[in-house]
Amino acid sequence: MTTMTATQFDFLCNMIRSESAIVLEPGKEYLVESRLAPIARREGLGSVGDLVQRLATTPGVALRTEIVDAMTTNETSFFRDVHPWQTLREQIIPDLIAARRATRRLNIWCAACSSGQEPYSLAMLLRDDFPEESSSWNIRIMATDLSETMVTRCRDARFSQLEVNRGLPAAMLMRHFTRDGAEWRIDEKIRRMVEVRPANLVVPSSLPQMGGFDLVMIRNVLIYFDDTTKQSILTGIRHQMKGDGVLMLGSSEVSTGLASGFARLQTGRTIYFHPAS
Ligand SMILES: C[S@@+](CC[C@H](N)C(=O)[O-])C[C@H]1O[C@@H](n2cnc3c(N)ncnc32)[C@H](O)[C@@H]1O
Repeated sequence: MTTMTATQFDFLCNMIRSESAIVLEPGKEYLVESRLAPIARREGLGSVGDLVQRLATTPGVALRTEIVDAMTTNETSFFRDVHPWQTLREQIIPDLIAARRATRRLNIWCAACSSGQEPYSLAMLLRDDFPEESSSWNIRIMATDLSETMVTRCRDARFSQLEVNRGLPAAMLMRHFTRDGAEWRIDEKIRRMVEVRPANLVVPSSLPQMGGFDLVMIRNVLIYFDDTTKQSILTGIRHQMKGDGVLMLGSSEVSTGLASGFARLQTGRTIYFHPAS
């Protein structure tokens, strides 16, 4: 049961799409209701329909931003999918390190970092498996997300018991986290390896400029966009990558023929891409 009229639902979908590129199809009314009901309650409104009505009649940046934020899906986990991390550890990072011996510099971008499990997985991997390079090279890990809530969570670098139970090896929990009440706080030496800031993938001026990316992880976010938007984001990223840089997509995104303009590589089960020459 939805409290929105078809016109209100359309208005909301258009607003969310224009702000974030996230596509909501008819049939997702229940999702919208469950995500926006807390905001409607807090605003003292009787229903999500009333909330959308307010948005339409009294537009305000803060409310719009909060609604878009609430409609993002932030599902993530440490070392998500396992095998890409093994390939990073055994092949991709060693190859990049070998290729950058002269400059001793790596520029890494985790686009759509959610609450931080992905960039901190990478930081821990670098620290544990490449201790010399991670302590003496100039390695930047830039983590960005559209959602201000996620940017704040990623910066805070605190995780619940449930979150550290998902994908994080016990030895890494012991090595890199400190218990803090009901939560686990990532140690400062790992936290400092990751720069966190907001960026909207469909607003090019908001994206990080790092002088050529060596590694871009843009995983499990393009699935929310239409094909034209996916292509234009990937084309923009390709132009910002070093010629031998590596692009990693989410497991369900690699075989969709998305990455035209990229050469496809495979190690074991992991598919990744270089800009095509
Ligand atoms: C499912 S999470 C993926 C997190 C992580 N990359 C992973 O694979 O585990 C998708 C993230 O994309 C972010 N997102 C959605 N639309 C975005 C946009 N237009 N620009 C930047 N981030 C966006 C959401 O806020 C959310 O945190």
